[in-house]
Amino acid sequence: MCGIIGYSGEQNAPEVLLKGLARLEYRGYDSAGIAVLKGEVIKIIKKQGKLEILKEEIRLRPLEGTTGIGHTRWATHGEPSDRNAHPHNDHREDVAIAHNGIIENYKQLKKELEESGHIFKSETDSEVIAHLIAKEYKGDLRLAVNEAAKQLKGSFAIAVMHQNEPDRIIGIRKDSPLVVGLGKHENFIASDIPAVLEYTKEIIYLENNEVVDIKKGKCAVYNEEGVPIEKIATTIEWNIAQAEKTGYKHFMLKEIFEQPEVLKQTFKKRIKNNKEVVFEELRISEDVFKETRDITIVACGTAYHAGLTGRYMLEKYARLSVGVDTSSEFRYRDPLITKNTLVIVISQSGETADTLAALREAKKKGAKVLAICNVLGSTMAREADGVIYTHAGPEIAVASTKAYSAQLGILYLFTHYLARVRGEAGNCPADFIEKLTKLPELAARMLKHYRKNENKIKEYAAKFHQYYLASDNKSCFLYLGRNINYPNALEGALKLKEISYISAEGYPAGEMKHGPIAVIDENTWVVCIAVKSDTYEKMLSNIQEIKARGGIIVAIVSEKDLTLKGKEADYVIAIPETDEIFSPILVTIPLQLLAYHVASEFGYDIDKPRNLAKSVTVE
Ligand code: G6P
Repeated sequence: MCGIIGYSGEQNAPEVLLKGLARLEYRGYDSAGIAVLKGEVIKIIKKQGKLEILKEEIRLRPLEGTTGIGHTRWATHGEPSDRNAHPHNDHREDVAIAHNGIIENYKQLKKELEESGHIFKSETDSEVIAHLIAKEYKGDLRLAVNEAAKQLKGSFAIAVMHQNEPDRIIGIRKDSPLVVGLGKHENFIASDIPAVLEYTKEIIYLENNEVVDIKKGKCAVYNEEGVPIEKIATTIEWNIAQAEKTGYKHFMLKEIFEQPEVLKQTFKKRIKNNKEVVFEELRISEDVFKETRDITIVACGTAYHAGLTGRYMLEKYARLSVGVDTSSEFRYRDPLITKNTLVIVISQSGETADTLAALREAKKKGAKVLAICNVLGSTMAREADGVIYTHAGPEIAVASTKAYSAQLGILYLFTHYLARVRGEAGNCPADFIEKLTKLPELAARMLKHYRKNENKIKEYAAKFHQYYLASDNKSCFLYLGRNINYPNALEGALKLKEISYISAEGYPAGEMKHGPIAVIDENTWVVCIAVKSDTYEKMLSNIQEIKARGGIIVAIVSEKDLTLKGKEADYVIAIPETDEIFSPILVTIPLQLLAYHVASEFGYDIDKPRNLAKSVTVE
């Protein structure tokens, strides 16, 4: 939630900041602003609404300077408005700050500051930071930031400038992400790597309470006590094209199409000699896995659905009991975790507040924690005992697609690995690796058909749009799946809700008679995952039951199966045939495309759906 950026160098800061903010917009987009320091004056321009509005304002009222900070907001305290947009300054306009996080004790601080004469302009929690730093300032901005930070409760990543200190930006973080980008004669701080990727691939990850002090030719990091510390920069493999749309209309569509390659890379890096899974970067020894008695998977949103899918494969092949929980529930329910429990946290960003809290809770209870993360060096990747990276490249669209299939890919690999390490390899089919490594090719084939317009998903989405309007906006979606594709029913419904704002519910098909059947009528579109499986016949019965009640069936079937075509199913989407256990990765692609095209029919902002943010770094 919220993205921040800071720049000190030789380029025109507003340009660098606006480009960076465009790559952070996925973190929040209800207002944006920049502050630029020139001479001894800080000028701020901030606007409610998307970044384009701010850009237009800056085109009309150009700002100049080579040092600046920027912010893109997802409102927590105070409605989206020009006044509540960041950067904020103190009433004397000495200090400007951009903040990501929540200051929990802001009311108390505000009261004290107001009593000592500070005048506030916004309803935000963040504004207290600017006032506090101004109050603590005695000629050295870093020391003032340090002093102010000691008084803040909550989470923060902050970029700060002071009008007396040309070229200088101070950054500090606690429980909100902040990276430093090292350039030639220029340095950056940002909430996430894509913001600076165009300028540098040399990245330093800040730990909690570390302070970074940047100028155009200088970068120094200090610990909480103010002692300088040596930090090693990591060279990022991502390239800027991965953070651009490269001809696609939306990042979401681009990311859907990237899935075959992402999966290929996921498998290639970990499968040795076509038979064995090896995780080179894993920091947990095999002995720990041998001692593991049970597994708990914890995650939010789409990553939670990956975890639910993981349960089916881990239980079936690694023969361990697996519990799956949403992070926000896990962290407060005092779960039964022992030192022999392996807790797996799954997170694209590695920064989701609830999942991070769950990770810490699990560690406190003595469990070993393995993180499956996409963002290199993210907080979860660093704090977990071990990490497996999904290496899906930057995912920009708010609705997760390629990170999800990469998470599934890793879970398959980890299942095979765990089964081997625990002496359960015999449970895995002999052709497990062979079938798994075929998935990228099958996904690519499916997407190629789709591109050639042999796939009808776009047409179906247009039909739904017509129905929706004709039904006086009553049409809704139900997604049904069974067994390992049940989580995909949840994920399909989530994708549609996220970007189309259509009411959609995912359900295990076997539970249909315990509630959902009551809502089925001629306005209900039911997506039935009916690919070849052990429960296929049961899904056919569900379809009959839905049909009998007037529901409209969209069936996802295996490509050679003609059972439903032109009969019970109103619409059929075929996917390449594979074993049921491997089908979720293929099933999810048409579900993603269906959500994408429905949202597209409604003309919504697909990459930046209302009210959502990609990284939920507050509770
Ligand atoms: C938000 C995003 C989702 C994502 C979830 C978990 O809700 O909009 O797309 O699945 O957070 O994020 P994480 O980074 O932990 O995977």
